[in-house]
Amino acid sequence: MNYLESLFSLSGRGAVVTGAARGSGRAMAEALLRAGARVVLADLLEPELNRLVTRLKKAGLRARAYVADVTKADDRVALIRFAEKVTGHVDILVNNAGITLPHAALDYPEGNWDRTYQVNLKAPFELSRIVARAMARRRRGVILNITSLNAELAFPDNPAYMACKGALKQLSKSLALDLGPRGIRVNSIGPGYFRTEMTRGSWGDPARRVARAARTVLGRWGRPEDLAGAVIFLASDAASYITGQDLYVDGGWLIKGL
Ligand SMILES: NC(=O)c1ccc[n+]([C@@H]2O[C@H](COP(=O)([O-])OP(=O)(O)OC[C@H]3O[C@@H](n4cnc5c(N)ncnc54)[C@H](OP(=O)(O)O)[C@@H]3O)[C@@H](O)[C@H]2O)c1
Repeated sequence: MNYLESLFSLSGRGAVVTGAARGSGRAMAEALLRAGARVVLADLLEPELNRLVTRLKKAGLRARAYVADVTKADDRVALIRFAEKVTGHVDILVNNAGITLPHAALDYPEGNWDRTYQVNLKAPFELSRIVARAMARRRRGVILNITSLNAELAFPDNPAYMACKGALKQLSKSLALDLGPRGIRVNSIGPGYFRTEMTRGSWGDPARRVARAARTVLGRWGRPEDLAGAVIFLASDAASYITGQDLYVDGGWLIKGL
């Protein structure tokens, strides 16, 4: 293995990606696989997961799938147990599963608030705690939390999503501090506007599609594959001294003034 390969290689590392059946999770899981990791794809969507495993197999990539609802405590424990069994040890956790339930703030439904909190904030925390126990014993591990521009900027009619993404950003720093002495790095990746199922509405509306692209510096939407470099970098030894950071993969959205 040459220098560059050894810096970025994830060969022999075990990884779990939640919400991996499609969208950004699928692309990040595929990137980890291509970098050599043994990856467990976790999602609610069984048929999509199975189709993805078959497609990856045809491309020479062997992933394992696990159907789990990350809001269920038993599913979280079972998922990590399964991942430890099939990968040997979970070295990388990508907390990617997320939902958005927009609604006007003044009559925001309590159920939307609770569900968003369960998926977007509580599940990443609980999964992190489960994997961190074993990572701490090996004194090695990486946790990546997928946040959003909403962790920094106000977007209309989505209070639960914004609150949870902002909190997930801060949770990443809290865990980075608490787990760093045990050899575990924790960082967040904040995507800008990516074309996935989650953004089907704004992509499908020509005016909003153009406006989102124009709001970036690079003049286009993100493609799920644009997240590959960030996830491999932060998961690998190339980022061995990086923890508690937020990396925005947003085409320059956040820095654009005029
Ligand atoms: N797309 C964007 O522009 C954008 C921007 C910023 C941040 N993000 C974040 O990026 C992450 C991925 O989003 P995406 O755009 O790829 O969305 P997506 O296409 O909707 O994918 C999210 C995946 O997570 C799964 N999921 C949801 N709840 C789950 C649960 N309780 N247990 C297990 N899996 C669950 C979904 O399954 P179901 O469909 O069955 O719910 C889906 O397969 C999210 O955290 C999102 O907030 C996205």
